[in-house]
Amino acid sequence: MNIILFGAPGAGKGTQAKILVEKYGIPQISTGDMFREAITNGTELGKKAKSFMDAGNLVPDDVTIGIVEERLSKKDCENGFILDGFPRTIHQAEELAKILEKQNKDIDKVVVLEVRDGEIVERITGRRISKKTGKIYHIKHNPPVDENEEDIYQRDDDNETAVVTRLAEYKNQTAPLFDYYKDLGKTVIINGEQEVGKITEDILKILNSL
Ligand code: AP5
Ligand code: MG
Repeated sequence: MNIILFGAPGAGKGTQAKILVEKYGIPQISTGDMFREAITNGTELGKKAKSFMDAGNLVPDDVTIGIVEERLSKKDCENGFILDGFPRTIHQAEELAKILEKQNKDIDKVVVLEVRDGEIVERITGRRISKKTGKIYHIKHNPPVDENEEDIYQRDDDNETAVVTRLAEYKNQTAPLFDYYKDLGKTVIINGEQEVGKITEDILKILNSL
């Protein structure tokens, strides 16, 4: 099963992806997570991505497409994958189609998580993450046991300034992809403002019928 999780920053892509990984045993491919890991490890990729990410801008396509192509060719993607945060531009989507064609694969569904802008800022500024487990928390909706624990951190781009840019990038560069996939008959829209469990239920209904 080859899925794209699509939605604005903070729509809940990462939260749902981690649940689907458990259910289906296929990997989550989050370009954002890959860039953050590269930054932590101080690699060339991390150096290229950092300033774009901190400002809330998209990392250039030539950098991003290469890492996805390499990741999709790994053995653990043979039975499927969950793309989270990729593609984010029409060019990325076109390149993804070419990569998958070479591998005799296709996208089965694009799951769109719909959340209004007002909700986004609250979700993003309240997000906390566990360094050890990668688990995603929210100070109000899903608080970590001990918020001051050393392990819990806040992303560098989870502030009110960067989020304005991230939302603008989403609207200008990423939202047009909705029509791109709709025209291919692949999109399904899920109300992303429900409880996490209810959203998962809605997604599973769609995926289990594939
Ligand atoms: P990326 O890491 O992909 O960030 P994003 O798209 O902005 O999405 P987020 O991770 O912020 O949100 P999410 O949808 O995963 O939400 P989550 O589940 O965490 O990208 C970061 C940066 O990397 C980009 O800005 C760009 O610079 C670069 N980049 C990455 N991919 C790129 C690409 N393809 N091309 C170019 N550049 C790229 O949830 C958010 C919060 O809400 C959490 O606190 C969570 O607990 C809470 N929450 C989740 N679900 C619910 C719910 N149902 N109800 C209440 N709260 C909820
Ligand atoms: Mg995410």
